[in-house]
Amino acid sequence: MPSEKVKDLIKKGRTFLQYDDLGIEEPSDQQLKIPQPPLVKMKMTSEQIDLPHNFADLEIDNDILKVINNRVSHRVYSDESMTLLQLSFLLWSTQGIKSIRGNKYATLRTVPSGGARHEFETYFIVNKVEGLRPGTYHFLPLSHQIEFLSSVDDADKKLDVALFGQRWAAVANVIFFWSVVPYRSEWRYSCFAHRIILVDIGHVCQNMYIACEAIGLGTCAIGAFDRKPCDDLFSLDGEEEFTILVAPVGTISADNQDKELEFYAFLKNEE
Ligand SMILES: Cc1cc2nc3c(=O)[nH]c(=O)nc-3n(C[C@H](O)[C@H](O)[C@H](O)COP(=O)(O)O)c2cc1C
Repeated sequence: MPSEKVKDLIKKGRTFLQYDDLGIEEPSDQQLKIPQPPLVKMKMTSEQIDLPHNFADLEIDNDILKVINNRVSHRVYSDESMTLLQLSFLLWSTQGIKSIRGNKYATLRTVPSGGARHEFETYFIVNKVEGLRPGTYHFLPLSHQIEFLSSVDDADKKLDVALFGQRWAAVANVIFFWSVVPYRSEWRYSCFAHRIILVDIGHVCQNMYIACEAIGLGTCAIGAFDRKPCDDLFSLDGEEEFTILVAPVGTISADNQDKELEFYAFLKNEE
């Protein structure tokens, strides 16, 4: 039986998920005509890298039914490098900006978002991508560029801690970390923003799965991460911006299918 404390937390969690009228009549900052926060985080460094955008050069599986049917979580990656074009495609598919609505009112992207608030930033650690040095990076969706932030000393150790010992993820070609800037959504939705934020990040990650499947890469959502060490990797303040989901992406090989199944070996004991 769960303790009273856990029962109470479960109740709070359910209340958070329900769309009940909480009797809140206060206007949101948007309704109060407070200027909205920036649509994206500005450049963090002085040097940006243009991403290739010629996706016609990629081998993309356009059979949507096959791609959806074949999508699975991949946790075993091969030693091959990933190309910059593949990385660019993943960034485009998950957070790419297609147009701006109104006078800088909202970005319209490759994923949907409640009220088009698009409250996420994309950071990543590069291990093996052609033409990029290993280290931490930040995606600039308005210009479809990336910026190198820093190299990481003892990356393996830091990732081991940050991902609660999920070492398989640390060896992926790239490890994506999505942060949330809650106020972008709170400005419009006030205390109702947070449920929408969780739905929004699901769309982002699903596009990552689909994009990976379509170009022969593998990914796996990681919800079991230690937020503070993840935030520290990218100097996020943990209050106005913090990590919300992680997804390693790697090259995969059919030879590794047995190793993939080992992750579910525990099920044998449950049958
Ligand atoms: C929000 C979310 C968090 C997840 N967190 C983890 C995780 O921390 N570690 C892991 O190995 N898999 C994680 N997964 C992957 C699930 O275990 C996986 O989707 C599930 O077992 C179904 O397998 P499939 O994706 O191959 O269909 C996560 C998936 C989602 C959607």
